Amino acid sequence: MPIKNICCLGAGYVGGPTCSVIALKCPEIKVTVADLSKERIKQWNSDRLPIYEPGLDEVVMSCRGKNLFFTNDVHAAILEADLIFISVNTPTKNFGNGKGRAADLKYVESAARLIADIAKSNKIVVEKSTVPVRAAESISKILMANQKPGITYQILSNPEFLAEGTAINDLLYPDRVLIGGEESPSGKEAIEALCSIYEHWITRKNILTTNTWSSELSKLAANALLAQRISSINSLSAVCEATGADISEVARAVGLDSRIGPKFLQASIGFGGSCFQKDILNLVYICECLNLPEVASYWQQVIDMNEYQKSRFTSKVIESLFNTVTGKNICILGFAFKKNTGDTRESPAIYVVKTLLDEGASLKIYDPKVLESQIIEDLTYPAICESPEEVMKNVMICKDAYSAAKECHAIVICTEWDEFTALDYNKIYSEMMKPAYIFDGRKILDHQALVDIGFYVQTIGKRLNRPAELRCWNSSPGVI
Ligand code: NAI
Repeated sequence: MPIKNICCLGAGYVGGPTCSVIALKCPEIKVTVADLSKERIKQWNSDRLPIYEPGLDEVVMSCRGKNLFFTNDVHAAILEADLIFISVNTPTKNFGNGKGRAADLKYVESAARLIADIAKSNKIVVEKSTVPVRAAESISKILMANQKPGITYQILSNPEFLAEGTAINDLLYPDRVLIGGEESPSGKEAIEALCSIYEHWITRKNILTTNTWSSELSKLAANALLAQRISSINSLSAVCEATGADISEVARAVGLDSRIGPKFLQASIGFGGSCFQKDILNLVYICECLNLPEVASYWQQVIDMNEYQKSRFTSKVIESLFNTVTGKNICILGFAFKKNTGDTRESPAIYVVKTLLDEGASLKIYDPKVLESQIIEDLTYPAICESPEEVMKNVMICKDAYSAAKECHAIVICTEWDEFTALDYNKIYSEMMKPAYIFDGRKILDHQALVDIGFYVQTIGKRLNRPAELRCWNSSPGVI
């Protein structure tokens, strides 16, 4: 039976864009994205979508109201669907067994229970959320234990590999689509039904089918390996700073080796985002539960290196500013965890900002896409903040980079937004306190040009020369 009706539970960074692209490419299929959050659905149905993704507005506007719908009516959406994606959040557990490491599957479980309660016809249930290996078994148990007579369920794993900031492009031209399912005839039939949706725009050879557990583990493995590359290059950036080697030159030299390749070799203040840390922590926890402590500590090191990189960079900022930032104005450019998204989950900027605030600095923050309310929420989140009033006394959110940098002692680049490379740094320099510092945590600026203007510049994985006129009165030769 061809799929005519799709429902997606969870209208987040994955559910929204994924289903919008499915609706675009499958005009004969009705796609309904259902979420419990009234606010989120209201935004999906408005002119200002709840997430920023290049190209997303166009896709949504061309399908919404035709074959793409956003709703809070989860009940109706489940009832009429042939196939249901579960795209709900799977955060790290913050209580009980596995606290701080295991994936919290309460939203996945409640989605499965909703389906079991509401369904009145056969359903293919597709796990799109990133989950621990064998989570499909839990979904299956819940559905089977509550099965009504005559209703059958097939559970598939179809992890999503899109990256925020390039989600639409990744969905339109994925390297591969992965579908895991049972090897039984009805399992194979369900896999075929999901394949036929993707085959509207993806060639069959790029659609990989595996058993369910391989599919689930592949998603964790992909994120672990990607994050590992970032931590590896970041670890070498520390060696560069200690020796005079340049991490960009090293990355280029090693990346040209076809066995290694150039992607994900960009040193920075560290990775962020909602997935890498939580998925690796989840992998570490799974390994510990499987009594594989050596494997667990191997992957834990990827997280530890990321923490080290964030703290190493922030310490450098403080040490360079004569070991104290108390009462100093510091401009933070970028708050999102990477460019082309407004998402701040696990953004390294949060760590940098919190540490500088703890040290007594006054901060002026600018990000082109992150809402002021989001920055305030991140900085006053109860788990990391004892006194929201105190924090907000020392934070100003600015409308552009120039007003943020004005009268500051230093600029700290936390996100690699393209617009930061095109700023008039002569103008910025003229309006800053002197000596004026720039800490480029993303390696996006022309450092020599900044040095020539008169800035003190620090970046990751490279030592830089000081401005000529300043060298003579400082004893440390040529570098900061
Ligand atoms: P999100 O937090 O943006 O969205 C999840 C949505 O699910 C929320 O709007 C929430 O209200 C809704 N929800 C929770 N329980 C529900 C229920 N029972 N019924 C209906 N809606 C419900 O999360 P995001 O970022 O979209 O991630 C979803 C999953 O996809 C996670 O497992 C994540 O690890 C994975 N993933 C995320 C990627 C990303 O770049 N954000 C990339 C690939 C996978």
